[in-house]
Amino acid sequence: MILKLFFKIYKLPTQGRQDFKPLNLWDGSVMKKEIITNSPDETKLFAQKFADQLKPGAILALTGNLGSGKTCFAKGIIEELTGTKENFQGSPTFALIQEYKALQDASGTVVRVYHFDFYRVKNAVELFQIGWQEYISDETGVCIIEWADLFPEILPAETKWIKFISEGNDKRRIVIRERAEDGK
Ligand SMILES: Nc1ncnc2c1ncn2[C@@H]1O[C@H](COP(=O)(O)OP(=O)(O)O)[C@@H](O)[C@H]1O
Ligand SMILES: [Mg+2]
Repeated sequence: MILKLFFKIYKLPTQGRQDFKPLNLWDGSVMKKEIITNSPDETKLFAQKFADQLKPGAILALTGNLGSGKTCFAKGIIEELTGTKENFQGSPTFALIQEYKALQDASGTVVRVYHFDFYRVKNAVELFQIGWQEYISDETGVCIIEWADLFPEILPAETKWIKFISEGNDKRRIVIRERAEDGK
């Protein structure tokens, strides 16, 4: 079974960045929210509010061009969930994953935040080798994945897709889509 899965993933085409075409990931029953921010601080503030609504086990897939604000948003989420501005490590471009210990809360305890960046990942196998399956199935963690649309096939259906669009200078459009039943 595991071997079968491995071969299935191994056979997935390597998606080079040059030939990358965004997939239509958002067919089906989805809820859509859209906001505009006009500064990095506004994006972070929005991320902090968004983080307050998150439940343990949430998976956030961040998409959009370089400089569109994915890391800025991730920073806001991580600062809110960890309760400190001190230990954000930046985008895990080379490390592939950065792990944080989050604050506990009364409703459900988020104990870890996993920050991924797929930008330099050549094949999904690399992700499985660093323990993707365990991270993604950690029901007490929150996963944040930059450039998630490079390997959409390894993301579960309940993923919240958050797209960042630069609209000149400091203006960013942020579009959130998730399965309707998850958008409580
Ligand atoms: N409204 C905004 N939201 C987020 N970032 C913004 C905004 N306006 C300008 N910026 C700038 O855009 C850049 C976003 O960078 P970053 O978050 O690293 O993007 P990405 O991770 O998508 O490549 C930063 O230099 C930030 O200061
Ligand atoms: Mg980034």
